[in-house]
Amino acid sequence: MNRISVIGSLNMDLVIQTERVPLAGETISGRDFNLIPGGKGANQAIAAAKAGSPTSMFGCVGDDEFGEVLLNSLKDAGVNTVNVSKTSKVRTGVASIILESSGENRIIIISGANNLVDTAYVDSHWDEIKLSSLILLQHEIPLETCHYIIEKAHASSIPVMLNPAPFHEIPTDVLTKVDYLVVNEVELQGIVPAQVSSIEDVIRAGKKINQMGVKQVLITLGGDGAVLVSNEEVIHQPAFTVNAVDTTAAGDTFVGYFASAIINGFGLKQALVNSCGAAALAVTKVGAQSSIPCNDDTQSFVQKYTTEGVR
Ligand code: RIB
Repeated sequence: MNRISVIGSLNMDLVIQTERVPLAGETISGRDFNLIPGGKGANQAIAAAKAGSPTSMFGCVGDDEFGEVLLNSLKDAGVNTVNVSKTSKVRTGVASIILESSGENRIIIISGANNLVDTAYVDSHWDEIKLSSLILLQHEIPLETCHYIIEKAHASSIPVMLNPAPFHEIPTDVLTKVDYLVVNEVELQGIVPAQVSSIEDVIRAGKKINQMGVKQVLITLGGDGAVLVSNEEVIHQPAFTVNAVDTTAAGDTFVGYFASAIINGFGLKQALVNSCGAAALAVTKVGAQSSIPCNDDTQSFVQKYTTEGVR
């Protein structure tokens, strides 16, 4: 059976909405505060499951209230959580997010239990992980673990999709073993240090990564949509224009939907359309997992937008 395994982070997002961020030393009144389930790994797992793919989450939470809420959020979306460990040694990961009325956000992460996803954890769950059709990774668990999984998956011919966010350098011999690399502009420039100010620049940088050995490079460009660059083709999908209130987890929604489309054998163009459509819907709502759309909503949005130009 086609199955996606996400090995990554689970964070409770502490979201403060405010007109503007305070200056250093200043105190201001905010607008609202909410606890919203998040973490790039868990967000991407939920997006993949909502897009219709059997998805398993691998990671670690603390034996505390936040951990329980995060597991329930995954379960509610249909993600298998039996392999998520619980630890009493350290608290569940949190992300402090300040969201301005303009939609701009600032995020500070305390990794907590996510740091316990080490190579020993991977080895002890490998019998399950190796059954996956695709492994999905981000950079919110220890980097050493990410690199170890990429090597191990490559040796077992399991495709890997890497979303290297937040960005940290990836050794070239590890990068070449990644099948699908999904980056934003900042991450793209981290890998190919070059000026990127047009779609042509983006395509050129993507091609350089192809030449390093990564077959499929996807670059998310916010308001400019997304570009897929491979040795065979280049596809630019323009963005769906929406009223953006919060971009948190838009990239995660894109990645999860794209992963799901790939293992379900969608053409790359259709995969891009679906993923951009889902990411556009995600930015119309506040929060991470609270904003990830289900497949029915994504399909009707994409169809309506394409036929009627609905915004
Ligand atoms: O990508 C969005 C996510 O980044 C948030 O949910 C937050 O937890 C941080 O990990």
